[in-house]
Amino acid sequence: MVERILADRVREPSRTIGRGQASVNIALCKYWGKRNRELNLPFNSSLSVTLPGMDVETELLPGSGDRDEIELCGPGGTLPDDAADRVSGFLDLFRPRPDFRFRVRTRSSVPPAAGLASSAAAFASLVRALDDLFQWRLGPRELSILARLGSGSACRSMYRGVVIWHAGVRNDGMDSFAEPLNIGWEALRIGVVMISASRKGVGSRPGMDHTVETSPLFACWPETAERDLAAILGALEARDLERLGVAAECNALCMHATMIAARPPLVYWTAQTVTAMRTVWELRRAGCPVYFTIDAGPNLKLLYAAGETAAVRRAFGEIRECAPLAANE
Ligand code: DP6
Repeated sequence: MVERILADRVREPSRTIGRGQASVNIALCKYWGKRNRELNLPFNSSLSVTLPGMDVETELLPGSGDRDEIELCGPGGTLPDDAADRVSGFLDLFRPRPDFRFRVRTRSSVPPAAGLASSAAAFASLVRALDDLFQWRLGPRELSILARLGSGSACRSMYRGVVIWHAGVRNDGMDSFAEPLNIGWEALRIGVVMISASRKGVGSRPGMDHTVETSPLFACWPETAERDLAAILGALEARDLERLGVAAECNALCMHATMIAARPPLVYWTAQTVTAMRTVWELRRAGCPVYFTIDAGPNLKLLYAAGETAAVRRAFGEIRECAPLAANE
């Protein structure tokens, strides 16, 4: 696949340093489960919003020695070994020669592996840095396919705003790519309720494989997700917060239901996660329209309109908030 995308592009670095940047994305309709593990091909299409300001920047240089040097600066400290191995494994796809080594310097404003999709932003920014180092000048669709090979959800971090990842049907994965949808929504807010910034127990990758293999509920997930995606897209186009929130919350809970039904069960929530979910439902009962989504970690991402910021902060404290679809983002 990489051969096909890079076809006649040069395979030696064209400059001394390549740079790339990308922001994390939050799925409103989730990707969970692969029909092809090697190519990260999903069973269902998914849809996200990119969170500007929660960024990963990558610098890529030719390295020396007998292994890649991978440095991470930013909150959360050093990159765990398995994450560095994953980056090196991904870079294998692009080495000009088997003994060619890379030096990767990554600066992140998000803690790694806290269910905040920092790996998506990391692989998307790494692909941009590769494109810059080798001066391939690939189009966004090709870049999103390459990022997908690093981490499925990374293909969505190639763009700002609302992004759809088409699942595709082909076995070679050439029709499984992300593209941006031109939807503005000044008032939409996403607030991150950090329950824990520490590394989660089971990564998304083994977590989703385990769910596909053992959960009796997984059979109905792809179809449910495709239906949710249509509802979420319709709600975004209509800027209808209630429809959006209900559909996104339901989609996240359905995904977690498939994991909880796996054997042994896979539960990413902590007691505080459940308490926070209940707080959201209480807020709604009290007339404050706020909704949540949760990824493969304990943290909640809240969806609400700008006018509710004060009420949300009263309930959850000084949460990190962004306006992902505002004109100036
Ligand atoms: C729950 O993209 O991290 O955040 O393709 O194995 O790298 P890999 O998985 P990853 O999974 C993301 C799962 C999710 C939902 C989503 O972002 O759509």
